[in-house]
Amino acid sequence: MFRKKQTGRFFLLLLIASAIWLSGCSGRVVENSFIRTPSMLAPQGPVAARIAGLSWFMIILGGLIFLGVMAYFIYAAWGHRGYSLEEELKHPNQGNGIVLTWGVGFTAVVLVVLFGLNIGTMRSNNQVSAGPQGLVIDVIGHQWWWEVQYQEQGFETANEVRIPVGQPVTLRLVTKDVIHSLWVPELSGKLDLLPNQVNELTLVADKAGEYWGECAEFCGTQHAKMQLMIIVQTEREFATWLEQQQTVPARPETELALEGQQIFLGSACVYCHSIAGTNASGDLGPDLTHLGSRRTLGAGILENTTGNLAGWIVDAQAIKPGNKMPPMDLSGEELQAILAYLETLE
Ligand code: CUA
Repeated sequence: MFRKKQTGRFFLLLLIASAIWLSGCSGRVVENSFIRTPSMLAPQGPVAARIAGLSWFMIILGGLIFLGVMAYFIYAAWGHRGYSLEEELKHPNQGNGIVLTWGVGFTAVVLVVLFGLNIGTMRSNNQVSAGPQGLVIDVIGHQWWWEVQYQEQGFETANEVRIPVGQPVTLRLVTKDVIHSLWVPELSGKLDLLPNQVNELTLVADKAGEYWGECAEFCGTQHAKMQLMIIVQTEREFATWLEQQQTVPARPETELALEGQQIFLGSACVYCHSIAGTNASGDLGPDLTHLGSRRTLGAGILENTTGNLAGWIVDAQAIKPGNKMPPMDLSGEELQAILAYLETLE
C-alpha cells in the first residue's frame, strides 16, 4: 500500500518536473519580456524549420529506440529470474544473433538514414541564398560584442542587425580576436566566426519581430553576455531605418547636450568609439553614431535606457567584468551632460 503511494508520488513529481523542462521548448511564450530565451524548436524561418524538423525526427526516433531497448532489457531480466550463472555459461553464444541483427545491423541502418537526412537538410538549407543582388551585412566578432557593418550602405552599428522580412540576407562572419560562433536559433543554424576567413550565413525570417542571436562558442569570461539582436522589419520600416543610419547626426540643440558633446570629444572616449561627423574615430569599441536608435547596450544584456546607459558609462566593469570599457571618473553634472549628448544620437 505504502509502496504504491510512493510510486504515485514519484510519477507526479516526474510529471511536474517534465512540464517545467518542456516549457523551455517554446521561446515565443513571453513575447514582451526584454530578455527571451530563443528556442530552436520554435522556428520562424524556412532554414530553422528544416533543422527543427530533423531534430524532432531524431528525438522521436531516439526515444523509440530507447524505449525498445529498455523493454527488451526488462524482458530479458524478468524472463531469466532464478537462472544461475553456471546455467547461463553453458550457452555462451545464445545472444549472438540478436547482437548482430539489432546491435550491428539495425544501428548501422539508423546511422546511415540519419546521415542521409542530415546531408539532405544541409543541402536544402544551402540552397536558400540571398543571391548576388541580396543584402550583405558584415558581422565581426569581438570579445564580447558584435561589430555590424553595412558596407554598401556606408554605415556601421553594433550588437544589432536589422533585415527586411521574407528576404534572404547574407551575413559575412569573421572575428578580430578569438573564435566565436553565431546562432540565431529561431532563424538559422550555427556558424563559426574565424580569424582571416569569411564564413557566410544566410538569414531569412517569415515574420517581422525581434530575434535573439547568441555567441555559441566559448570565447572568454563574458561569453554568455554576447548577444546579437536580429530585428526583422517590413520593407518600408527597414528602408526608413537605413536612411536614418546613413545620416550624420545634427549638432546638439540643447545647452546640456552641447556641453556633453564637448566633454565626450575631449575625453579618452574618442580613442575607442566613432561618431560620424566628429573627431571620435576609434574602432576598439562599438560605433556610437546612432546609439540612441539601438535597442540594447553591452551586447544585448541591457535595454537601452538612460539609467542603464548611465550605469554602463560609470562602471561597465561592474556589469560585465573584463570587457574593454574602463570605468569613467565623471561628476554627476558631466554624466548628465554626456547622457544628454548620447541621447541625441538617434
Ligand atoms: Cu563570443 Cu562566445
